[in-house]
Amino acid sequence: MATEARDPIPPFPAGFLWGVSTSAHQIEGAADLRTPSVWDTFTAGPGRVKDGSTAAVACDHYHRYREDVALLAGLGVDAYRFSVSWPRVLADGGLGFYDRLVDELCAAGIRPVPTLFHWDLPAGLDWLERDTAARFAEHVSVVAGRLGDRVDKWITLNEPAEHTLLGHALGVHAPGRQLLFDALPVAHHQLLAHGLAVRALRAAGAADIGIANSHGPTWPASKEQADVEAADLYDLLLNRLFADPLLLGAYPDGLGELMPGDVPADLKIISEPLDWYGVNYYAPARVGAPQGTETSFGGVRMPAELPFSLREIEGVPTTAFGWPVVPEGLTELLTGFHDRYGDRLPPVVVTENGCSYDGLDDQARITYLDGHLRALHRAVEAGVDVRGYFVWSLLDNFEWAEGYTQRFGLVHVDPETQERTPKASYTWFADMLGQQRL
Ligand code: FCB
Repeated sequence: MATEARDPIPPFPAGFLWGVSTSAHQIEGAADLRTPSVWDTFTAGPGRVKDGSTAAVACDHYHRYREDVALLAGLGVDAYRFSVSWPRVLADGGLGFYDRLVDELCAAGIRPVPTLFHWDLPAGLDWLERDTAARFAEHVSVVAGRLGDRVDKWITLNEPAEHTLLGHALGVHAPGRQLLFDALPVAHHQLLAHGLAVRALRAAGAADIGIANSHGPTWPASKEQADVEAADLYDLLLNRLFADPLLLGAYPDGLGELMPGDVPADLKIISEPLDWYGVNYYAPARVGAPQGTETSFGGVRMPAELPFSLREIEGVPTTAFGWPVVPEGLTELLTGFHDRYGDRLPPVVVTENGCSYDGLDDQARITYLDGHLRALHRAVEAGVDVRGYFVWSLLDNFEWAEGYTQRFGLVHVDPETQERTPKASYTWFADMLGQQRL
């Protein structure tokens, strides 16, 4: 099928950083060459992952990283966001893998952008424990000490919101706890870990530090007060609970009183200035008052006892995952952040954006990416200082509780043979980058 003719995407500002993202647990495999993580323990349990799979082999990126760096070079990206597996760093020689990967990237002229925690906590550690934050800072110092001569751009954490909600409140991700609102300390300890990591990175000489937080607009299901209040609560939990302490040094709406420890002292650490703020955007949420029944969002079941319910967004296409496709949500999100945080918002980088579709001729992914880049450009025109954009993801990979059933890659990976085949979206993205550089 021929790609639809479209006007070129308007040019982004000079120096804009173009990249793609992955994470260690989702692609590396070589589970025998790292210590176990909470995801290994979790996936070993019955019924946790849709297709019964694990990430023991995943995309075997550990052994095939040279081929994958060549795919990045073929795409023409400036930067590659990957994560450093803490459980691998704990294994003898584990850091050596990241040495080799970073060298390969540098040789290809691609800027390495490591994320220091992307959900694969070493088994035995627990975010309910405050000490995990200090342990994370030690991990960060070790990694920065080894890679800091070649890496200058760092991401502390990936999506503490999803890790709290899915992993600790609802239990559909590792470590599989169902604490509902008792999961709030998990959010605080990750934020504290972030702040301590910023200090550790600065001590190691880093000057280009950000975080990758998941955010999305929250739309009330109706104008009824109960729906508006429910949507406001969801916005509080997904967006403000994480952005406010980082950017304003305060928890919103009295949430600080529910957090453990010396919260004012911790907030000073949490709000260490950032060089940029990473946003992972997929879709908005439409939220209403509880309906007394379970609801679901993007395949995640939300228990009936929650004080909100998630509703379908009518009249928009959905991805293979069932996620609504709403590019304008990205403009709304970023202009909303610009309004709310003003000068406290550092330059923004979109650290993840993408979609799950099957097939090699993935015209729907092209439409998704095209629409979101135009929406991002509208945010730039509206005055938001956006400095980069990373597609999730380079490769089809282990999509957490969905196993290998959701395919987010620009490159198809056959989980049996590990054969990599660039999709139509890979060629489209490479061409788009070429046009941006004219
Ligand atoms: C994000 C995660 C990433 C991937 C995408 C689809 O929430 O950060 O690892 O699973 O969703």
